Amino acid sequence: MTERTIEGAGATGGAPAEPAAASRAPLLQVRDLRKVFVHGGKQLHVLRGVDFVIDRAEMVAIVGASGAGKSTLLHIVGTLDAPSQGCVEFDGRDVSRMDGRSLAAFRNRTIGFVFQFHHLLPEFNALENVMLPAIIGRMPRSEARSKAERLLLEVGLGERMTHRPSELSGGEQQRVAIARALVMEPRLLLADEPTGNIDSQTAAGIHELFFALNRLHGTTMIVVTHDDRLASKLPRRLEIRDGQIVQDTGGTLPVVAPSVPEAPAPAPATPSAGA
Ligand SMILES: Nc1ncnc2c1ncn2[C@@H]1O[C@H](COP(=O)(O)OP(=O)(O)OP(=O)(O)O)[C@@H](O)[C@H]1O
Ligand SMILES: [Mg+2]
Repeated sequence: MTERTIEGAGATGGAPAEPAAASRAPLLQVRDLRKVFVHGGKQLHVLRGVDFVIDRAEMVAIVGASGAGKSTLLHIVGTLDAPSQGCVEFDGRDVSRMDGRSLAAFRNRTIGFVFQFHHLLPEFNALENVMLPAIIGRMPRSEARSKAERLLLEVGLGERMTHRPSELSGGEQQRVAIARALVMEPRLLLADEPTGNIDSQTAAGIHELFFALNRLHGTTMIVVTHDDRLASKLPRRLEIRDGQIVQDTGGTLPVVAPSVPEAPAPAPATPSAGA
């Protein structure tokens, strides 16, 4: 293992503690979120007023056409990018304009990311890549290692721990990225096409892992996906079109009533049923 280098990556200094959470606030509240990119002198209005509330332990799919703004939304919710307007509140605290060390510490402790393009560090092997957020978060090294090993086993990579990203297939790299996102046991997992280039059997295993995490730890999950099998399994679905949420099948503040109400299926009508 490249001990020295991985330790160096963790040298972030003492991060300030998070303020106490506002007790009654929802986990995540997104208000009037707008994002304008300026490109070639033109303004591109990608998010045009997005509002939703996501509570603890919810599992939410975000769906929509390519270019609809799903990744942009996820990056802003994950504090990786700032909105042009509007805010993202986590536990009642506006995190969309936090910066510096407190933002880095908040993100490291609270949010796990699985990106569309997995961004593994090429000079580290699979185990080291998974351990990295834990080392940065100052987890004792032995604990980081055993957690990382367990996660890599769970995503089916027990035999690939010492491979570098260039020595792994695309799907294997994606699974390393999933293990890395989970090593800090984040309260919020943001996943962008997490099983996009993985075969259906392995993908099903990863979906199970997500559900197990949700059951065991109450991890809140927001998953951008084009995979109908996954989207249909998730209890809530937000659809984004033209920069706005056009359908929300659940949640605290539905923007549009579900087109198919999920009422309990009535017993078949019996025409003769009388009083
Ligand atoms: N930094 C940027 N500068 C200019 N335009 C951008 C930038 N980032 C994204 N866009 C544009 O914003 C739109 C939304 O991009 P985004 O990546 O959020 O789409 P998406 O819904 O995730 O699509 P996909 O399903 O293909 O991943 C796209 O048309 C894209 O070209
Ligand atoms: Mg995207």
